[in-house]
Amino acid sequence: MRRFPTTRLRRLRKHDFSRRLVRENTLAVDDLIYPVFVLPGKNNRQAVESMPGVERLSIDLLVAEAKEWVALGIPMLALFPVTPDDKKSLNAEEAYNPEGLAQQAVRALKEAYPELGIMTDAALDPFTTHGQDGIIDEQGYVLNDITKDILVKQALSHADAGADVIAPSDMMDGRIGAIRQALEQADHSDTMIMAYSAKYASAFYGPFRDAVGSAGNLGKSSKETYQMDPANSDEALHEIELDIAEGADMVMVKPGMPYLDVVRRAKDTFSVPTYAYQVSGEYAMLKAAAQNGWLDAEKTMLESLLSFKRAGADGILTYFAVEAAKYLQNR
Ligand code: PBG
Repeated sequence: MRRFPTTRLRRLRKHDFSRRLVRENTLAVDDLIYPVFVLPGKNNRQAVESMPGVERLSIDLLVAEAKEWVALGIPMLALFPVTPDDKKSLNAEEAYNPEGLAQQAVRALKEAYPELGIMTDAALDPFTTHGQDGIIDEQGYVLNDITKDILVKQALSHADAGADVIAPSDMMDGRIGAIRQALEQADHSDTMIMAYSAKYASAFYGPFRDAVGSAGNLGKSSKETYQMDPANSDEALHEIELDIAEGADMVMVKPGMPYLDVVRRAKDTFSVPTYAYQVSGEYAMLKAAAQNGWLDAEKTMLESLLSFKRAGADGILTYFAVEAAKYLQNR
């Protein structure tokens, strides 16, 4: 007698309706955070060569373009200022200039779109002449506690300008607690912190460093004395645990696709709002392959974004945010 399989997993996969009914994860516009690069001046727009489709924009153009992003329902932008070389210094004073680019952009965007979330980066790399995220000693070693004090000033200047979320991406020890304390003391108790908790010393940040103009300054030196070793994952949980204890409201794993195991462990262990950053290099890879006709642009974009949801992420920082939001709207 012929024996039939008791379970046929393909039964549920046969029809579109049943595939939809058993679908475990979905991507929504609510999951998307859009990173943008801010230029000085007016009516200033520059393409980022290594990130096809991404432009650096002056504040007036940023405010104009953001109208569409708000209409699409994107919940939050993450701002990255492109600092002119003459404003960079060893002590990164420009980082906490109340009239700095990030601070001005926050004010302009919050005025135009009060309901749009604005997140700012706390790190010194756009402001140091050497491109490191902190203040260095004579050997080029990044000094933790001096850097931390400047990050606090930077975070306060962002909160004063109206930033909703401060995102320290510098990986100094103790900075979340110091920033949280300072925000509380300055009556910014509602300002959120999204900690770049598990940020790896990754080669996938290359195009971003071109975009903000820190690649040349950094040269051949690395960030591995403060960013994490890609070989580690227990250490990521340790970092995240500390950041939560120090007052982080949200935690992040960065880069994204090569570190989805870390996203899953983080979500399972701590059950706090957990985000992943699909970084510049990940975006560049997919775009380059699509431009060559080697991959389907839309399908790979959506599959990559959905994989973050499957891994347990509550949201994704992605340069695809606008493209993905448009797709979701037209679906
Ligand atoms: C700066 C910062 C970096 C990114 C976000 N904030 C670069 C770095 O650490 O060198 C990378 C983002 C990307 O690659 O898209 N501290």
